[in-house]
Amino acid sequence: MSDIQNILIDFSRKFNADLEECFPLPQGAEKRVVEAMKYSVMNGGKRLRPYLLCACAELFGVGYETAFPAAASVEMLHSYSLIHDDLPAMDNDDLRRGKPTCHKQFDEATAILAGDGLLTYAFGYLADSLIIRPEIRLTLIQLLADAAGAFGGMVSGQTLDIYASETGSKADDEAIISRLEEMKTGRLLRYACEAGAVLGMASPEERKIIISYARKIGQAFQIADDILDREGNQNIVGKTLHKDDAQNKFTFVSCYGIEKARERAKELINSAVSEIKYFGEKSVYLQKLASYIIDRDH
Ligand code: IPE
Ligand code: IPE
Ligand code: MG
Ligand code: MG
Ligand code: MG
Repeated sequence: MSDIQNILIDFSRKFNADLEECFPLPQGAEKRVVEAMKYSVMNGGKRLRPYLLCACAELFGVGYETAFPAAASVEMLHSYSLIHDDLPAMDNDDLRRGKPTCHKQFDEATAILAGDGLLTYAFGYLADSLIIRPEIRLTLIQLLADAAGAFGGMVSGQTLDIYASETGSKADDEAIISRLEEMKTGRLLRYACEAGAVLGMASPEERKIIISYARKIGQAFQIADDILDREGNQNIVGKTLHKDDAQNKFTFVSCYGIEKARERAKELINSAVSEIKYFGEKSVYLQKLASYIIDRDH
């Protein structure tokens, strides 16, 4: 196992223990929705977004304790996006992170509500985090809302993803795919990195470099996800594979084929790595993480 994989595992161990504390179960029958939220959040994600957030904050000397609330909130929001992405009305998936999807484990209404609960809690938890200065908290909340929302954020990207598959339109157009993937996946990964820069009070120049790194790894990340859907090992990936073609999804792989997609992802990662080297020795794990994003098997 590479050292970045070991670092991610160590990070996840600590992060998971802290995240679990955010979900005390209420008393009444309404605890069902919190159980479903907790089930989905605590079921073994790679924690890439929290790691990126903490690693970018660390570039500026901001430690884990301060970065944790923002890292937890982006993972809550990401988990909500996965619960809803898996719903029958969207990708209709039975398997997530190697376990039954939320609506399979519970039921559809509970899964919708669990997604709603996580989305709301992500903002509430961040807003309540007194360890982060109020003006920085407000900036993070605004950035997260933009990244996740319906005006160029994740919800816009998911809309394009569903619309393209429902109409079956597959314009051979790199610009459309890049836009779709940047919004549905890239914006949240970019938020994670940018949030680290905001916590670290990065200069405009430093922030620009981090955003550019994040955009490139974000696009490469989704290309890798699309390649895994075609070529991965289901037991390792933990999701039902070969669904993108079956659902006529509009992906970089579907339009250009595996080889060109792989080349593109590699180019993006090389470029992201050389940009983040601006931060010198401190950026070594962000460099390794970028490479892991396209070398990963799940
Ligand atoms: C999966 O994201 C969904 C996409 C945005 C492609 P991850 O691959 O980060 O999923 P987890 O959190 O590790 O399960
Ligand atoms: C999902 O993309 C992106 C979001 C959840 C926003 P996919 O539909 O490709 O993700 P997987 O493959 O189900 O994880
Ligand atoms: Mg989807
Ligand atoms: Mg999906
Ligand atoms: Mg996918």
